Amino acid sequence: MARIDQTVIEEIKLRANIEDVISSYVQLKRAGSNYQGLCPFHSEKSPSFTVFPGTSSFYCFGCGAGGDVIHFIRRAENMDYPSAIEFLAKRVGVPITMDKREQDENARRERVLAMNKEAARFFHQKLFAPEGAEGLRYLTEVRRLPMPLIRHFGLGFAPNEFGALTNHLRKKGYTDSEMSSAFLCGISQKTGKPYDYFRNRVIFPIIDVRGDVVAFGGRVMDDSKPKYLNSSDTPAFKKSRNLFALNFARKSETETMILCEGYMDVIALHGAGFSNAVATLGTAITSEQARIFSRYAKKVVICYDADEAGQRAASKAFALLGEVGVECRILKVEDAKDPDEYIRKFGAPAFKNLLERSRSEFDFKLDKIIRDNPIVTPDGKIKALEESVRLIASFPSAAAREIYLHRIAELLNVTPDSIRRDVEKLLRNRDKKEKREEAKQMIRQSEGYGDRINPDYVKNTVAASEEETILVIMLLHPEIWTELQKSGETLTVDDFFTAFGKKVFESLEPNLSDPLFEPGMLGEVLSVEEMDRVASIRRSRSLLQQNTITVLRDSIDRLREATTRREMSIEDILNKKRQKNGN
Ligand code: UTP
Ligand code: MN
Repeated sequence: MARIDQTVIEEIKLRANIEDVISSYVQLKRAGSNYQGLCPFHSEKSPSFTVFPGTSSFYCFGCGAGGDVIHFIRRAENMDYPSAIEFLAKRVGVPITMDKREQDENARRERVLAMNKEAARFFHQKLFAPEGAEGLRYLTEVRRLPMPLIRHFGLGFAPNEFGALTNHLRKKGYTDSEMSSAFLCGISQKTGKPYDYFRNRVIFPIIDVRGDVVAFGGRVMDDSKPKYLNSSDTPAFKKSRNLFALNFARKSETETMILCEGYMDVIALHGAGFSNAVATLGTAITSEQARIFSRYAKKVVICYDADEAGQRAASKAFALLGEVGVECRILKVEDAKDPDEYIRKFGAPAFKNLLERSRSEFDFKLDKIIRDNPIVTPDGKIKALEESVRLIASFPSAAAREIYLHRIAELLNVTPDSIRRDVEKLLRNRDKKEKREEAKQMIRQSEGYGDRINPDYVKNTVAASEEETILVIMLLHPEIWTELQKSGETLTVDDFFTAFGKKVFESLEPNLSDPLFEPGMLGEVLSVEEMDRVASIRRSRSLLQQNTITVLRDSIDRLREATTRREMSIEDILNKKRQKNGN
């Protein structure tokens, strides 16, 4: 099953000291022979996240996340199993041997990157060639970009031909299918021949934090449509995970980043000395991009276009960035449609001034409330008040709420007390509702509903629990399993009752004879959530230290007995519950 050689994985785990690795993410304090800290996987105020150096494992007693160091990286970096191993291997300096498929994938990615680099060079050269004259004129005269800025961003020009780049790349040894996989050419349906995707456009190369050219944007030089063409996702590029100019912005010496809408805004800002500006790539901000911001910045100033769409998009950015703990402010450009035009009209110092006057989320949303409701009429004022109360209630800090409600009281000319009462009422109701939801959730969970990992558990709790015991013995004491098999007894996947149990058994059983087996290997087949479940099952059975073949045999017997009973349907469960409740 292991695609990366298991001995290599062992080596990585030996060298990657789990408490060292985790302390890059969590502030750990010694607690006896273990370490504790605040769990990075759920929000908590007192530490229930524990690292056990003795067993090279971690476990959160709050949310049940747990496993080995690879599992930790998988969760913390949101990576799949092979990438997590690769990530750790790099960190500890173990060369890893990959299997064929992965090697192919890597090779393809490398080819695309090399080809992109070649294409970027080609476009950049064409900008200064005779056929690029119109592109150069557009950038320097129409857009007023100084030459050093054009070079800094490696801007280019795609000639108005169908085969300029394609022929060039073919001469460099790239195949048609490689070019089309990189979105550098399309394939004509009529002739089956490739043709240049970018034609008669100025080119914006997109460069990732490693410095690789991962994609391109191309703009027309007039008002024709579409204004921009962009590379779609390729083996080397995911639009939702990249930001334009992050390669420069992450090196700027500030904890703040500026988020704009357009390539041209970013370029203009960098030209004006704001090298911390980035943009999404023609889409609204994604949660992946929000996470990238949280890695590089404490604060983000959202600097979208002045139009309605830009302001709507800002709300989404506030929400996503707020979720990952990035403090957001918003800047509204005045008397210009976007930051690029603003800087051209009023200059860098004026923009700096705007930055300093950027507004908080509260001010931004309050403005919208005032704009949307005619507060000169009683009805409009009441609606504005209602919306303001909801807005205030959305802030967790009581002090912040107090400050905001005074602002609104003044603005709408009502007493602070009346607003405070409404806010408190809303919070109380919300609290009650949340508690009710929580209670419902607890009932559901205690009955096994909502158990996404093992939804069959509730249908036969005896069988499911015995399954867990069996799996834990197999996991922790493969020698007992071997002993059982030697004695001629068999247990097959058909003996298992829950789909989850079957899945774990099936991924476990063939590996137990491997002398290098260890439970983390299941990560190859099981999802992050399933791995967490395995960890918490192990922990809940950790008292079963005195495992013997007798315990295993007993469990197998009880499992078989329980599964021969009729499987309970959800109907049965509900009926039973109704009887219990006496109605
Ligand atoms: P804008 O139209 O605001 O672009 O779209 P801009 O950068 O200010 O362009 P100029 O100033 O007119 O040259 C914002 C971003 O949306 C994406 C691009 O990433 C653009 O930078 N976009 C826009 C597209 O992908 N396709 C389009 O047709 C238009
Ligand atoms: Mn613009």
